[in-house]
Amino acid sequence: MEISRQHIGIYDIAVPLWVGGMGVRISGWQLVLAVLLEGCLGTLTSMGLGDLSHGMTYAEFNRTSCAALEYEIAMLHAAMRERNITGRPFAVNIMGALSNADDLVRTAVNAGAKIIVYGAGIPRTLPAVVQDPNVALVPVISSARLAQLILKMWKRYDRVPNAFVIEGPEAGGHLGFSFEQLQHMEEYSLENILAETLALIRPYEDACGRKIPLIAAGGLYTGGDMAKMYALGATFVQMGTRFVATNECPVSQEFKQAYVNARPEDVTIIKTPVGMPGRVLRNVFLKRLQNGNIPTPSCPFHCILSCERDAAGFCIAERLVNSYRGDTDNGLIFCGANVHRINCIMSVHELITELIDGVHASPLTLPRTL
Ligand SMILES: Cc1cc2nc3c(=O)[nH]c(=O)nc-3n(C[C@H](O)[C@H](O)[C@H](O)COP(=O)(O)O)c2cc1C
Repeated sequence: MEISRQHIGIYDIAVPLWVGGMGVRISGWQLVLAVLLEGCLGTLTSMGLGDLSHGMTYAEFNRTSCAALEYEIAMLHAAMRERNITGRPFAVNIMGALSNADDLVRTAVNAGAKIIVYGAGIPRTLPAVVQDPNVALVPVISSARLAQLILKMWKRYDRVPNAFVIEGPEAGGHLGFSFEQLQHMEEYSLENILAETLALIRPYEDACGRKIPLIAAGGLYTGGDMAKMYALGATFVQMGTRFVATNECPVSQEFKQAYVNARPEDVTIIKTPVGMPGRVLRNVFLKRLQNGNIPTPSCPFHCILSCERDAAGFCIAERLVNSYRGDTDNGLIFCGANVHRINCIMSVHELITELIDGVHASPLTLPRTL
């Protein structure tokens, strides 16, 4: 299969591969830089940044996390200048469930982000927060129904999303499916949702006179998997899990090693304090949690609107930061369904080369409409 440059809004991306936003702190500027250098699109996380502590007020939490996002973007810009790739766009991922999501969006755009990827929440008022038509707005969806809802909601802003990320049930991080739906993964497969969403957006594309690119994500592991998504009509594919196990990913070596060691039976799905299912690795922390051995911390700033910390028994930001730093025995390890297939840590260049070679080797062809 031959692939070519593709567009998001007014931006041109040489290789139709995205690396998704990964919180907490996992898709930091170092990983995004390495991805941009390969001509792909990288997504900075805005989740759980900065020196947060439980003693903070909401105002302090908001100030600290927005300043830390500004810093991440400044570091990325400086590194891009050094490598002479300043013209390349990058995305920032915003978690809609965060109580300061709108402030993070404004901070990202003011600091120069050209693409906002908005997940874990419905972006009801995003076009009012970002009025600049040159900033591409990309909601993350897990069903054609949600795509339709957003298309309808945004009519009053006269704005059509610049693209949708479709996250299927095999993705890492929080999942946009109920536990019941996750029992029927075949029915809710990425392939099915992609086909339904392609059919749904066609009249909207005709009405606005442009393509609404779809970015397929969740459980994609090889170049062959990518080719399958392009053949089905995805303009881009997005990956997460595989890029955690790269040299450039700023997460701790312990986190990466947990991926390398993972077996299929180590992967499970829990309800997180966000109130959504999340795919994680079984570890010491999870065992203690299930045995009721985790003290519930106090939290004055309430970073997640829907937080069910008392019911879930832990603070998700704290536990994700622990794993990020290397204290995986006291932390949560998010992962995609195919994490057990990872058996080594490699460079981003090696990984992307392997993936693109796999696409080229595929006998599949692109649909004629692409
Ligand atoms: C460790 C981890 C953390 C993630 N965190 C986020 C996040 O904060 N926001 C988000 O929209 N998606 C998040 N994701 C989902 C990824 O952006 C991506 O869509 C997904 O991982 C694709 O599936 P894959 O991991 O099977 O490649 C996360 C994924 C992983 C593996």
